[in-house]
Amino acid sequence: MRKKVTVVGGGFVGSTTAQRIVDRELADVVLTDILEGLPAGKALDMLESGPIQRTDSRAVGITTATGDYKETANSDIVVITAGFPRKPGMSRDDLLKANYDVIKQVVEQIAKFSPNAILVMVTNPLDAMAQAAYKISGFSKNRVLGMAGVLDSSRMSTFVAAELGVSVENVHSFVLGGHGDDMVPLPRYSTVAGIPLPDLLPKEKIEAIVTRTRKGGAEIVNLLKTGSAYYAPSAAAVEMVEAILKDKKKILPCAVYLEGEYGINGLFVGVPCKLGARGVEQIIEIKLTAEENAALQKSAASVRELVTVLGL
Ligand code: 2OP
Repeated sequence: MRKKVTVVGGGFVGSTTAQRIVDRELADVVLTDILEGLPAGKALDMLESGPIQRTDSRAVGITTATGDYKETANSDIVVITAGFPRKPGMSRDDLLKANYDVIKQVVEQIAKFSPNAILVMVTNPLDAMAQAAYKISGFSKNRVLGMAGVLDSSRMSTFVAAELGVSVENVHSFVLGGHGDDMVPLPRYSTVAGIPLPDLLPKEKIEAIVTRTRKGGAEIVNLLKTGSAYYAPSAAAVEMVEAILKDKKKILPCAVYLEGEYGINGLFVGVPCKLGARGVEQIIEIKLTAEENAALQKSAASVRELVTVLGL
């Protein structure tokens, strides 16, 4: 039987995510939005690209303004992108309350119609929204995860490849922590063809890359002016979707619910995880230096502040 992925939110991130899934024939896709017509139009447009793209994945779009989630029933994975995007000068955290209300409505319906789904959260502020989805859905912790580390690592790899003039395929970057301004890029665990980054670049260059990675989302927001990034975020979400659908056992940095790992308890924070058919199948713990650990704890404390505001 074909796999089914629902993408909630027909904005740029949601529709690009849906398009990538259809183009790669990973699953049939249901694209939802509160707007009338928009998700149906985008899905039909995608479907009509099938003969050219050589994909038989089906795409349908539905409006959920009337609360009707029937079409999403029994999805294997639900990617949630719905919410307000960041505007210039706005931090991800400013979005907190507005997006919590959106997520609450969505997750209640998704949990009702797809009780066995795996939820991939994309809405910002990412780690807090993942925690909200976990609490609201009542799903087990392996079935709720957030997309952030894959995006942040991809940004870091882009900058490293450009600095060294090498293929992006040679670069593996490693970013831990919350998807906020104090995320934790780890140069020591980032490699180029297996060579640790500190062996290839001087400290100042690495620091510049770390800073640019941390501000990567804002850099795009400032350029676009009327929205936030979507090509790299959708590519990141789809890498996670693919790992789950194909049971790849792929290790990717994801926001997951920690219960003591890395000394963090009862909180969603980005760490390396093994993704497979059961969702988050393992959390990988690595040894951090005192400095790296302090940065991770600081990042976790920022996430904790947000979830406390939300009473989660
Ligand atoms: C980003 O980092 C919007 O959080 C998103 O681009």
